[in-house]
Amino acid sequence: MDLFDLLMQRRSVRNFEARPIPDEIVDRLVQAANNAPSGGNIQPLSIVLVQAAENRARLAELVGEQPWVRNAPLSMIFCLDFHRVKRWAALNDTEFLGERAFSHFLIAYADLMAAAQTVTVLAESLGIGSVYVGTIQSNVGAAREVFELPEHVLPLMVLTLGYPKTVPHRIPKLKPEVIVHREKYRASSDAEIAAAFDAKYGAFDRKDESYLEKAFIEAVEADKQGGDGWSRMTMKEMTRLEISNNAQFLFRFRYPAEEMVKLNARIIDSFRRAGFDFFGEE
Ligand SMILES: Cc1cc2nc3c(=O)[nH]c(=O)nc-3n(C[C@H](O)[C@H](O)[C@H](O)COP(=O)(O)O)c2cc1C
Repeated sequence: MDLFDLLMQRRSVRNFEARPIPDEIVDRLVQAANNAPSGGNIQPLSIVLVQAAENRARLAELVGEQPWVRNAPLSMIFCLDFHRVKRWAALNDTEFLGERAFSHFLIAYADLMAAAQTVTVLAESLGIGSVYVGTIQSNVGAAREVFELPEHVLPLMVLTLGYPKTVPHRIPKLKPEVIVHREKYRASSDAEIAAAFDAKYGAFDRKDESYLEKAFIEAVEADKQGGDGWSRMTMKEMTRLEISNNAQFLFRFRYPAEEMVKLNARIIDSFRRAGFDFFGEE
């Protein structure tokens, strides 16, 4: 298939067959990740392959009991790894201070996502579906313990993979012309912004469960896989919080604005415990 068509048909997959991904394909996914671009070609990346049932279950717990992480045959934990780079520098009578340099962190995180996205594209071309699981960011400390990550290694993204059982179809997107700017940024009017998101999500209806297929596919998929009444709980919360539009659904329920700010303390603390400190004294 043409690469463009492949990319246009890609969807995050959360419902996987139990059959494992053959070792030689896992090996290719790792090779492709390793061949992704890397700032300065420093390659501050480690990937933990999680395939054993008990480790999948532990990882699922760490990411908020997302059932696909437990059920999928493979999850890859993408770790920002300054441990290896620091040791190498020290062994060579020099110093690498990535754990204190925000610039190194930003570039390394970009490397990590470039590698992960390379894996999703290769996987897709091989008939393997994948879904990012970003919630590991809220549980870096526990994940470091479970997977025995040394100082200066941060587990920052999980990619869960397997052969798709079903693929979601109703995922809305902004129109490409909304995100593109030619030569210079052109600020949209309030009316254009409202219209862009209306076109994306369509009408809001608190009582219509099929709304979740567009706005919270995770809940629908979790329920299919024995999750604990995610959709029912979501509909109840929508009523309790008096959610009356798409934006409120996202920023009052799914990502409550104040709660997201409060998460900073937890994330920063877990980074500090891993030996990172970007914002301390120079
Ligand atoms: C950084 C990032 C974090 C994500 N975290 C999760 C997650 O924790 N759980 C999940 O089920 N999907 C997660 N996703 C997948 C998104 O929900 C998905 O990409 C989005 O709904 C758009 O659907 P599509 O990938 O099918 O286009 C994540 C995606 C990205 C890029």
